Order: sequence, then C-alpha cells, then structure tokens
Amino acid sequence: MKASAISHPNIALIKYWGRQDDGGRGLNLPLNDSVSMTKEGISGGSRLQSHTTVEFSGSIEKDMMVLEGREICGRELERVRLVIDPLRKIAGVESHFSIRSVNDFPTAAGLASSAAGFSALALASSSALGLDLTREELSTWARLGSGSAVRSLHGGFVYWHKGSSHETSFAEKVCEGGSFQLNAVIVIVNEGRKGISSDIGHEHAYTSPFNEIRTELSQKEALLVRSAILDNDLRTVGSIAERNSKYMHAVMMTSDIPLFYWQGETLKVIKSVHAMRERGIEVYFTIDAGPNVHCLCRPEDAPEVQKELECQDHVLRTIVARPAKDPHTIDEHLF
Ligand code: PMV
Repeated sequence: MKASAISHPNIALIKYWGRQDDGGRGLNLPLNDSVSMTKEGISGGSRLQSHTTVEFSGSIEKDMMVLEGREICGRELERVRLVIDPLRKIAGVESHFSIRSVNDFPTAAGLASSAAGFSALALASSSALGLDLTREELSTWARLGSGSAVRSLHGGFVYWHKGSSHETSFAEKVCEGGSFQLNAVIVIVNEGRKGISSDIGHEHAYTSPFNEIRTELSQKEALLVRSAILDNDLRTVGSIAERNSKYMHAVMMTSDIPLFYWQGETLKVIKSVHAMRERGIEVYFTIDAGPNVHCLCRPEDAPEVQKELECQDHVLRTIVARPAKDPHTIDEHLF
C-alpha cells in the first residue's frame, strides 16, 4: 500500500482569505469563491513541484512524516492526519502511515508549498489506499489540510466554490493551460519562511474593517475572472487580479494581528510592474502571503519582464511559470 504523487502549487488570481464560521470543525470553508492558476516552473531552476510518497502498513509503528528531511510533529502532523484520517476511514484501513515529501522550491515563503504538498498528499494517499475518488472529491479532502490546496488538485485554471458544507466546497477546472495564454514571472526577494502562517492569519481576517467589503467584491470578481479567462482576456484578468491582491493585503495589514507580508523590495517590484505597463508591456502583479511577487503576462512578454526584474539588486532570482498539467501519480518512490 504505497503510492507517490507529483503536484504543483497555485497562484490565486482571486484570493481566499478568511474562513466561514463552522463552529470549530476545521473545514476551511472560505468566505468567497476564488480562482487560480496551477503553476509549473519552466525556467529559473525549479519545476515548482511537490513529490510525496505515502505508505500504509501494519509494520509501521506510528504515523510519521518527513518533510524536506525533517520529521514533523505537533500541529503540522495533525494537519496531515486531518486529510488522511477520513481517507483511511473510507478505505476501512487502520494501519499507520509513513510519508516523505520534498519540494523543489522554498517551503513556507508564500509560494504555496502547502497547496502543492497537501494536494500531492491527498492524491498519493487515496492511491495507496486503493480509493477511486474524483478530483473534485479529492479536492475536498486536501482542503482540510490547507484551504488553498483544494485548487491544486487540477492543472490549468481552477475555480474553488466556497460552498457551505464539506462536500459543497470543492474545486473544478475552468480550462486547461493551453486555452488562456498566461505566464507568471515569480520574483523572489526573500526565500525565508514567513513569520506568521496563513493558518493563523485566516482566523483574524474578520477583525479587519475591510473584511466584509473584500469578501463581497471578491465573490463578484471570481465570476468576472472566470469568464475573462474563458475569453482569453488578459487585461480583465490581470487588472482584477492585481486589485484583488491589494484588497487581501489591506485586510491583512488592518487585522488585529497586523500582517505585513510586503517588504521594501516588494514595493520596488510593484513599481517596476507599473513602469513596464506604462511602457506598453501588459503585465500585472499579484502577491500571496509572503514578500515575493508574481508578475502575470503573456508568454511572449515573459522573457522581457524577467530580464527587466532579475538584474535589479533587490531581486534574488526569478522563476517563470506556466499553467501546470494535472497532478498525477508516479512510480518513483522516495523510500
Ligand atoms: O491555504 P492557506 O491556508 O495557506 O491560505 C493561503 C491563502 C493565500 O495564498 C494567501 C491566498 C490564496 O487564495 O491562495
């Protein structure tokens, strides 16, 4: 009972920030629908992928997971069990698990490593347990580990229905990467782990005076972005994504635990994006829970955007990403 999977992170075009009150059940039901691109690195030395191997066996003495060479425990291991326990139950398996997972990109630096990790975990676990679940069903289980992981169960462009229960909060594909030509030039200004995890941040979103309006606008914008993706309309997707990212950071900065993920370097990159746009390059930015910036543009403009940014002193490196294929199981096991 062993299986391995490869999965990619996703960058949200319409953000998930803050959760519905589910009476402490830990369902990770978001306040609004969201939209993302699952991303695969094509230059910059990283394919942006999580590779995870899961084994269930009567000879394993306790549940254990090694992430990037480090055995995890406490809340981190608890989150893994939140995904695996229901799958074990559906399969009628009581054996312990042993897991190894590696990322080829920095963990917990706002590049959505948890999304890739929990998506690979859900896929590898269900395969090891012999379960035949749809991607939509699997997405609901991945969501229990990390909300945004729901969207990494599909490649291409993805829509997460916020739902109002475990079953109704799932992700579906909008379209494959080929139909909407988009690249993200990821500008890394800091590779360190972020100070306060998004897990804690979500809990405090409601304390911001801007939370309600962000939620309302995001719900409308999710629908607009979905149809603009299907219309291959970069201007609409990019300008809404840029605005939506600022709404999320406004909520973060004004919560009772003020979260300033931006650094001075982040602002410099934002200014460069604006300057390039003034020069006629169609490029927009979006930022998740970290200081690094995703610059959204057409594939033919990506080399110029990358060249412009990577020669700046405050930029450590850039990775160009395109829409990824669906996550998949592979025969190569990590142990
Ligand atoms: O899945 P989490 O709990 O790590 O939430 C991350 C949410 C953002 O990345 C900041 C936005 C999003 O929609 O992915």
